Amino acid sequence: MPIRALTTSPLSGFASDVRAGLARPAQKELPSKYLYDNVGSALFEVISHLPEYGLTRADERLLRRHAGDIVNRLPSPVAVVELGSGSGRKTRCILEALSRRQLTLYYPVEISPSALAACVRELSDINAVSIVGFEREYLDGLLEVSARRQRGQHFLVLFLGSTIGNFDRHASVEFLAKVRRTLRPGDALLLGTDLEKPIAQLLRAYDDELGVTAAFDLNLLARINRELDADFDLSQFAHVARINYDARSVEMHLRSMRRQTVRIPAAGLCVEFLQGETIWTESSHKYFAEEIFPMARAAGFCCQTQWIDEEWPFAENLLIAE
Ligand code: AVI
Repeated sequence: MPIRALTTSPLSGFASDVRAGLARPAQKELPSKYLYDNVGSALFEVISHLPEYGLTRADERLLRRHAGDIVNRLPSPVAVVELGSGSGRKTRCILEALSRRQLTLYYPVEISPSALAACVRELSDINAVSIVGFEREYLDGLLEVSARRQRGQHFLVLFLGSTIGNFDRHASVEFLAKVRRTLRPGDALLLGTDLEKPIAQLLRAYDDELGVTAAFDLNLLARINRELDADFDLSQFAHVARINYDARSVEMHLRSMRRQTVRIPAAGLCVEFLQGETIWTESSHKYFAEEIFPMARAAGFCCQTQWIDEEWPFAENLLIAE
């Protein structure tokens, strides 16, 4: 579709990513990290309570049930770094279990300022835990934290909630390998992974009856309107969840209900949409429990233990840096 440039002034990271994603000649796309502004993070928190979306509850159940066992398998002393802490609710039981044996430093790394503030508030009452938050992207935050590593200290990196599933399979191994490069042998990574489940269950989880996931997805266009002065008419886009059988993922798309033109002045862009054309906003990959072992090995870890939830197929995997 024709794309017309409106300005030549330098663009912010968000504006230039929006421009790159919507100016693509083929499938238009927007990076899923931009779903998480303050409104998006609050909507995601609501999603985690929806009956159709069992992922977060499975993650929490496993952490609650096995926190003692997980902590017993860690080297000592250990500082905790959480990539994408969100509200921090899930992390409480790990920190409480650790605080029974040592003074614990906890470094949440989170791009949403409101989620980071909620996390610090939520967890600041735990005795023997000191919290230092980093409003950063995952790897930038992890690098900053590793610059503060104390002599003899190990790291436990938490990457929960199957956020790894929002990378494609190749990128997920690359990401884990980058995490591994910031770690030392014996450091640990607790990785949450959502497992394969029936298609109908997956589609319900990503297109709930109440429309919260739809609002979460559409908020990305509302955010572009708010921050980049765009004129997306939200009533003319519809949230769609679809299965990508080759990638073994659920994709979220925003489908244009009619032929339309959208102006995004702060991205120097005027975009035309055909009726039915979509913007791909997120992929959520699902795993077989067995595939985590070779995936960990390819990134320089050994998957030492795996715990699987009985209600909602989900695995917590303890990876040790080799
Ligand atoms: C954060 N991430 C693991 C969620 C997921 O399931 O992929 C984001 C989400 N998207 C729609 N619902 C939840």
